[in-house]
Order: sequence, then C-alpha cells, then structure tokens
Amino acid sequence: MTLHPDLLSLLCNPFTGEPLKQDGDSLTGTASGARFPIRAGIPVILPPRQPLRTRFYRRFYDLAAALYDPVVRAGGQIGVNHEERLRREVIAALEISPGARVLETAIGSALNAPHLPPNIQHFGLDLSWGMLGRARRNLAAWGRAAHLVQADGAFIPLHTAAFDLVLHLGGLQFYADPFRGVSEMARVLKPGGRAILLDEAAAARRLLRRMPAHRDYAPDLPTAAASMTRLVPFTITEFESRLLPGGLFYMLSFTKPENL
Ligand SMILES: C[S@@+](CC[C@H](N)C(=O)[O-])C[C@H]1O[C@@H](n2cnc3c(N)ncnc32)[C@H](O)[C@@H]1O
Repeated sequence: MTLHPDLLSLLCNPFTGEPLKQDGDSLTGTASGARFPIRAGIPVILPPRQPLRTRFYRRFYDLAAALYDPVVRAGGQIGVNHEERLRREVIAALEISPGARVLETAIGSALNAPHLPPNIQHFGLDLSWGMLGRARRNLAAWGRAAHLVQADGAFIPLHTAAFDLVLHLGGLQFYADPFRGVSEMARVLKPGGRAILLDEAAAARRLLRRMPAHRDYAPDLPTAAASMTRLVPFTITEFESRLLPGGLFYMLSFTKPENL
C-alpha cells in the first residue's frame, strides 16, 4: 500500500533525522539504509531497543485496547471523569484554523477526533498497535481521517517545524523519558506553533519524582501544574501551566518562538 504523500513527505528516521522513502512494505533511511516496516498501511518506527517502562506500557495498552473506550465511557456515565466535556471544551477553545496541521502524540483510540474541526490535516502517533487499531476503527466509523504512525512519543519520526499544533492528552505519565517527549513536541512545532498537553494532576507529581535529577536536585515540587513547567525546554519562553477546574487534570501549553 502506498503511503499518502502528506505523510510520506513528513516522515523521518527519529534516530538520525534523515528522510525516509518507501520501498514496498517498508521505509528506508535515505542515508543510513535503516529499514522500518509498514504494517497494514501504518508505518512502525520504534526504537530498536526500548526501556522496560516503554515495553510494559506498549504491552499494557495492546491488552487494554479493547476495553479502553467502554471504560472511558462508563467513567463519564457514573461521573468519575468528565473527559468528554474536557475534550470538547479544551479543543473548542483552541480555535484551530482550517487547513492547520495537527499532531496528536499518544492518540490512543482517537477519542479527540470528533471534537477536532474536519478541515484540518490530522496526524496521530501511538506506542500501542492495539490502540492504533481502535483509532483506525473509530475514525472510519466517524467518517474522519488521520495519518497514523506507531512510534514512541519521545522519538517522533516526523520532520522538525512541521506542525501548527501538537495536542497530547493523558499519555505523558507513561513515557520512559517525559523530558524528551516534551522537547520532541517542541521540535516538530512550526515557529509560532502551539503545544497543548493535558494529563492527570496526580500523575504529574509521580512523573517528576521518578526523574533522578528532580528527585535529587530539585525535590521541592510545589504543585502539579508548577511541576510540569520543568519539562518545558529552556528555549521556550511563552508557556502556561494550570490545574483545570475539578483538580483532576493539569494543562500545560506553550508556543514555539518565531525565531527558533
Ligand atoms: C490514557 S491513554 C490516552 C489516549 C488518548 N490520548 C485519549 O485522549 O484518549 C494513554 C495512551 O498513551 C500511549 N502511550 C504510552 N506511552 C507512550 C509513548 N512512549 N509514546 C506514545 N504513546 C504512548 C498509550 O499507548 C495510550 O494509547
């Protein structure tokens, strides 16, 4: 299956930065000759060796994929979470322009897709093949389109300065290296582009505690929202982090400077 040119033109080897070209059912690095498979039309561009945490959550979400949507839906029905409303309100507030190129890192089963405007270029990556399978099924059922890639969000296989918006909901806590994950989001943004990141507030504190440099040298983690600003690369000067009403989620947003 030939990859869509909009996707192929943006794909790169995240370990070398080189562009990739399609050779039948695989992608080849134009300089190194490194090969990555294309599985059922989805590029699989994963690091050759993955940390234990990454392997664990990849397997976990492969197993949990079938249950993910029903569990999220049930949580909404019994009032444990209000994710549906949160998705709708946060995405509506972004006022995404027609034609914008939007990347979702850790897209999961694509539950944000129905809230995004239909006239955008939507790209999504996820670590779990099972979740991407659900995403594909959901997108088809909703009549939506997105270019999907199986990848680790800490090694985004997409070119630098390619996206107007990077959206992330609920995956960062599972990353082996959340610092790298956030700096990769910044890298793929166009100058002036925005990143919006939402995750559980309780997870934000745990996330920094397991990063040795923070545990040992900066143990004062005042609040979840403040903690998250420590993940923002120092080249980013415009950012905001706050707890959302209800206190369950924080939202970190930043804009890539025009001169980067
Ligand atoms: C709680 S789900 C959130 C999914 C989706 N963003 C949503 O809003 O429903 C967490 C997702 O993060 C993905 N994930 C975990 N670690 C990841 C990583 N290192 N890179 C990319 N995705 C990852 C999982 O596979 C899973 O789909």
